[in-house]
Amino acid sequence: MKKVQKSTLVGPLDALMEAAGDAIIIIDEKGLIQRFNPAAEKMFGYSESEVRGRNVSLLMPEPNRGRHDGYLARYARTGEAAVIGKGRQETGLRSNGESFPMQLSVGEIRQADQRSFVGIIRDISEMRQAQEQVRHLEEQLLHADRLVILGELTAGIAHEINQPLTAIAAYADAGRTIIDRIDEAPAADMHSICERIGGQARRAAEVVQRLRGLVRSGTSSKGRHNLNEIIKNILLLFEFEIKKTGTELLFFPLEPLEDLYVDDIQIQQILVNLIKNSLDSIGEAAQANGCIEIRIRTEGQNVMVSVTDNGPGVPEQYRPRLFDSFFTTKPKGVGLGLSICKSIAAAHGGTLRHEQPQEGGSRFTLSLPLRFIG
Ligand SMILES: Nc1ncnc2c1ncn2[C@@H]1O[C@H](COP(=O)(O)OP(=O)(O)OP(=O)(O)O)[C@@H](O)[C@H]1O
Ligand SMILES: [Mg+2]
Repeated sequence: MKKVQKSTLVGPLDALMEAAGDAIIIIDEKGLIQRFNPAAEKMFGYSESEVRGRNVSLLMPEPNRGRHDGYLARYARTGEAAVIGKGRQETGLRSNGESFPMQLSVGEIRQADQRSFVGIIRDISEMRQAQEQVRHLEEQLLHADRLVILGELTAGIAHEINQPLTAIAAYADAGRTIIDRIDEAPAADMHSICERIGGQARRAAEVVQRLRGLVRSGTSSKGRHNLNEIIKNILLLFEFEIKKTGTELLFFPLEPLEDLYVDDIQIQQILVNLIKNSLDSIGEAAQANGCIEIRIRTEGQNVMVSVTDNGPGVPEQYRPRLFDSFFTTKPKGVGLGLSICKSIAAAHGGTLRHEQPQEGGSRFTLSLPLRFIG
């Protein structure tokens, strides 16, 4: 009997307010708090008796705190609702002054000529933190992948830098010898030597600059970039590997090509991974006439970059797993290259696909939308 009595006394709304895991706050049309459920007490750090009759703007930081009365007045006047019926993310303010992200949904209650509003609030700080952590981990992974691949290319890159430096030293020595015999030194010789020193120094600086770009860590930043330039900028890093293995690396840019809105370092990361994979496959097969071809073309609203090699290709049984994380057939492979490339492509609204050309070898095609602002 007692139970029945309690439920008639308390009412279904009260039972709901008591039990809800989300904060539920009811305000009148002036914004004064009428009801404040236990979850709201816990979330905001006030007891219901402390806040009842006070303006709900107490629970929000500026600028909404100063504007909330205006929002209510505008709604009463025009009937135009900014939040009612639409959930949105807002910032809440706890009694200890801490602000937090929250998901807010507002509904209207009309009873006779009285109007009140019910706000249902979920604290999403943990979810935001988790999202932030995932984003941070993803960035670290991208960076680690670049460092691993650069580590593998280092020997070649060191050679690429060492070669111009050695040449610079040799030209400088030659110049000094000529100066020592100054009366017979033809100006033309000195001119040509200085030019060569300058050229070699610029080449060394360029290699270092490209390296620094790829080693850069930090948040992804998209901007307007020309895809031809993005690709040209990394080819230099492969020069040594190419020479060493006797492989041919051909690049066919597309002119003219409008700028794309992309993270240039991430797009370079895709190309570096694909070229490295091709070099690995050609190297593995100990092929003498290895050839890698990079070609850009447009297809409808997309720009396609294909990296084709004449290596042994991907055996049929491996094709479905190519893009899986940790799938590798190399003794020292990690198996993350292609899966990272695929997620970079997706983050740019694009795709990365593998196909087996009829004539053998393998082809990976990166497709990017010409207009994508992500
Ligand atoms: N051009 C290619 N020709 C033949 N097989 C390829 C080619 N590219 C990729 N593969 C196959 O796909 C597998 C996965 O490539 P992925 O780049 O994801 O990893 P990985 O190169 O093995 O290791 P890492 O994480 O160091 O890049 C390779 O181990 C290889 O078997
Ligand atoms: Mg790889």
